Parts: sequence; C-alpha cells; structure tokens
Amino acid sequence: MEIDETSRRRGDFPTEQPLQALRDDHALLRRQFDRYFAVQDKADKQDAGTHIVQLLQMHAALEEGAFYPRVRSVDPGLIAHGLEEHEKARHLVALLEPMDKAGTDAARLMRELADTMLDHIEEEEGQLFPKIEQSQIDMSALGHEMQALELQLVAAHAQKLVAPGLRV
Ligand SMILES: [Fe+2]
Ligand SMILES: [Fe+2]
Repeated sequence: MEIDETSRRRGDFPTEQPLQALRDDHALLRRQFDRYFAVQDKADKQDAGTHIVQLLQMHAALEEGAFYPRVRSVDPGLIAHGLEEHEKARHLVALLEPMDKAGTDAARLMRELADTMLDHIEEEEGQLFPKIEQSQIDMSALGHEMQALELQLVAAHAQKLVAPGLRV
C-alpha cells in the first residue's frame, strides 16, 4: 500500500514545491525504518527492507543528480557533508541489496543505515531546507528539473524490473 502511495506521488511531482517531494520521501523512509524494526514476520521485514533499499537508491539519485547541484551555492560545506553521508549509505545499501533482509546480519547493517540516514534527513530538513527557502533559488525551475530526472529514474527502474538483464 505504501508502494502505491509512492508511485502516485512519483507520477505527480509537486514541481512548485520540490522540497515537499523530498520531505515526503523522508517521511516514507522514516515509516519504513520503523516498520522494519517493529515487524517480526520475516516476509514483512524483507518487504520493508527491500522498500528502504529502493527508496534510498531513488532518493539519493534524485538529490545528487538534480537537487544538490542546483542548491550547492546556499552552503557548499553542508552539501559536501551530505554527499559524504550519501556515500556511507550507498556502501551499506550495496551490502544490503543482495541480502536476506530478515537475517541478523542485515538487521545490524540496517541499524547502521537507519542511524546514518535519520541523522542525515534531520540535517537536510533542519539546516539545508530552511537556507534554500530563504535563498533566491528558482523553486519552479528546480522542481521541473527534479521532476524530469525522477521520471527518468522511474522509467529506468521499471525497465530493470521488466527486463533484468537489459542495460538501460
Ligand atoms: Fe540526502
Ligand atoms: Fe534527502
């Protein structure tokens, strides 16, 4: 059900409020982390874990490909710090992707990923986003650029699901 909720938003990017799209991703991530650690059922845990991995891959690609480059000027140090955290998360996600998400090794890595990402999300929402909101950045242009990239990412992801061996 949460996947549907994401897909609906993915097809309808709020171009005039691009920060809201990122806040929505963050909220969904928080809920999926909560769900992952709360559920006992292995299939549910596997599902939540897979959802987290996919969400993070999509979210980081969107931020690094369209968002960070356009907002870097508001605080280059904060963006550099954000990229370091993305890199740490990318390493953990790469380890987790092929794993049984319901196993104990995965749970340990997922704890580390949650600690990294929940801090990171708080920094983006608490420090970076307010600076952007106070800046002269053209939010509509930013939103349209992010929407275009998100559509590409969704299409690439769909193609990967349909034809796993095909390079896109
Ligand atoms: Fe980020
Ligand atoms: Fe983010």
